[in-house]
Amino acid sequence: MELAFPGFRIRSWRPGDAPALARHADSEQLWRNVRDQFPHPYTLADADAWVARASVSEPETQFAIEVDGEAAGGIGLFLQEDVARFSAELGYWLGEAHWGRGIMTEAVRGFTEHAFRSFDLCRIYAIVFEWNPASRRVLEKAGYALEGQMRRAAVKQGRVLDQFLYATVRDFRSDGAVGGAQQLPA
Ligand SMILES: CC(C)(COP(=O)(O)OP(=O)(O)OC[C@H]1O[C@@H](n2cnc3c(N)ncnc32)[C@H](O)[C@@H]1OP(=O)(O)O)[C@@H](O)C(=O)NCCC(=O)NCCS
Repeated sequence: MELAFPGFRIRSWRPGDAPALARHADSEQLWRNVRDQFPHPYTLADADAWVARASVSEPETQFAIEVDGEAAGGIGLFLQEDVARFSAELGYWLGEAHWGRGIMTEAVRGFTEHAFRSFDLCRIYAIVFEWNPASRRVLEKAGYALEGQMRRAAVKQGRVLDQFLYATVRDFRSDGAVGGAQQLPA
């Protein structure tokens, strides 16, 4: 998969990405805004393991953001199950060296369109820590709506935090022709 934008690309993770990934992902400023399962410090072994897993997962849901010819960030979907099976959580991060240039706003906007085209989804949502106004702004600029403030919903770095829930939805497909267990209501 590859989506091209002015100044960057979203593409599949591939062998060779690990050194750049480890360099860009190894940041405390970044880590304080993502889940604890995101490694910190972020080692080359962590990067190798991520690239190996992401590049074989089926369906492919996690992608690299390539800036200046190297993997400098990530964006992807966490497909939900059961009654939430037409929903996905969106996750994303960018290396600090590239913050503030509008990259993630365009990435979220373009990737969301791609996700609705490629998966049977009628809802994509994202959850942001209360201390991350930049990410809230990204979602707002990319067309996501604030749905609520989830009080005391996370603990990070020893602090209990509220989280903001953002989502974008689309109409069900009018032809309903998506088939199988994923069939959407007509
Ligand atoms: C949040 C993050 C994705 C933003 O990426 P980016 O490419 O720098 O974002 P953009 O440049 O497209 O937009 C950032 C917006 O936030 C604004 N912003 C930045 N810091 C801000 C702050 N402290 N307060 C308010 N707004 C802020 C910028 O001004 C810009 O808005 P504008 O265009 O209206 O001026 C990036 O900082 C990051 O990866 N952070 C760590 C991981 C993370 O937070 N992931 C998301 C978890 S929900």
